[in-house]
Amino acid sequence: MTTAFDLVVRGGTVVTDTETRRLDVGVRDGRIAALGEHLGAAVREVDAAGRLVMPGGVDAHCHIAQRSSSGLMTADDFFTGGVSAACGGTTTFVPFAAQHRGQRLRDVVAGYHRAAEGRAFIDYGFHLIVSDPAEAVLREDLPDLVAQGCPSLKVYMTYEALKLTDRQMLDVFAAAARLRAMVLVHAENSDAVAWQTSRLLAAGHTEPRHHPASRPALAEGEATHRAIALAGLAGAAVFIVHVSCRQALAPIIQAKAEGRRVWAETCPQYLLLSAADMDRPGFEMAKFICSPPLRSAPDQAALWEALSDGTLDLVASDHAPYRLHDVNGKLAHGADAPFTSIPNGMPGLELRLPLLFSEGVVKGRLTASQFVALTSTNPARLYGMYPRKGAIAVGSDADLAVWDPDREVVVSHAALHDAMDYTPFEGLRTTGWPACTISRGEIVWDGRSVHGDAGRGRFVARAPLEH
Ligand code: URP
Ligand code: ZN
Ligand code: ZN
Repeated sequence: MTTAFDLVVRGGTVVTDTETRRLDVGVRDGRIAALGEHLGAAVREVDAAGRLVMPGGVDAHCHIAQRSSSGLMTADDFFTGGVSAACGGTTTFVPFAAQHRGQRLRDVVAGYHRAAEGRAFIDYGFHLIVSDPAEAVLREDLPDLVAQGCPSLKVYMTYEALKLTDRQMLDVFAAAARLRAMVLVHAENSDAVAWQTSRLLAAGHTEPRHHPASRPALAEGEATHRAIALAGLAGAAVFIVHVSCRQALAPIIQAKAEGRRVWAETCPQYLLLSAADMDRPGFEMAKFICSPPLRSAPDQAALWEALSDGTLDLVASDHAPYRLHDVNGKLAHGADAPFTSIPNGMPGLELRLPLLFSEGVVKGRLTASQFVALTSTNPARLYGMYPRKGAIAVGSDADLAVWDPDREVVVSHAALHDAMDYTPFEGLRTTGWPACTISRGEIVWDGRSVHGDAGRGRFVARAPLEH
């Protein structure tokens, strides 16, 4: 018998960012070759009856094989991070190539390519982190790197070793505008954070649970407003990462209403966890330290509304994996270290889709199409990968999350696949989980086992912004 396809995902309900339809998906040579009812025979079949068939997730914010400015390496590399992502339904991620001061950006990116080649499990791109916008970096490296498929870069308004002055931000925005690159901004007012922190430390409030108070929502709101203003002055497109609070949403809402080129994301931790979750004594609470910090229940409600009404464009994990009980992780400066010297960040690659589906779609806050837009299509579009990624369409890469919408799972780190030793979501009850994940036509996760080798993931050269 001749077979028309390498793979057919049969009998499922295809969900895209715009519609939901009963369709078979036929795959040939790693791409979607046909969509229709009763497609012909295939070498391999996936029975998707009772399942949702969605574009594989695109995680546009994660830290993989990244060395921090203080020298710590993230726990996940391109293999462990990729496997973990795939087991949660994500088939593409865009980690950072992080420049430290004094480095040429082109050398930095070459190093991240070496880290990914032979290790990557899913497809990947790189956002650049610019901490030293020297003339040669902006005039020579950046144009080359954008042309090589990295048309996005992140700048920091906080963290001593990374932050840019407003003037440097303007230089970066102007260069990005010339190159049609997106500028991602970590928006927190550095001096406000430093001032608040010194008051807490002086009062003896050094434990991890005091971290949220050290980085007030006002500091995030002010910096978000300033970042949008500076981007506007330089004519650049700006993307506000990890929005956590109402004070940051306000200038985004205003800028969007004015038709400015402003986009923004939030992350599951800001939707599901709050500062109250970490208001207990002891080092254990270090697992919740991230910046911006966890906020309040009213902030969570505002973020959900902003996802539903389009103020926020996507949900990324900000997977920043530092193990809790590890001297190369949160314990780098000991269990009695003040919160200021504990590495920032929490893991979330694998749980991003399950958490958003369970808390968003199952609880009626989002439609299934909004879920697809927020987790896959919008990041693919904004970062120059659409329709190769983020779509179920003939010609697109056959990256699919075949979803069991009824499966109930109590989150347990023991069942996850990253290289971490905790999840901040331990014990959470969820509904909806990937039954199978398909990457370029290969079943890489069948709900029980991982299939595929390190190095199967490919670099995705991304296109610059259209205007
Ligand atoms: O705390 C966080 N989010 N750490 C990761 C680095 C960053 O700023 O995204
Ligand atoms: Zn950040
Ligand atoms: Zn981050």
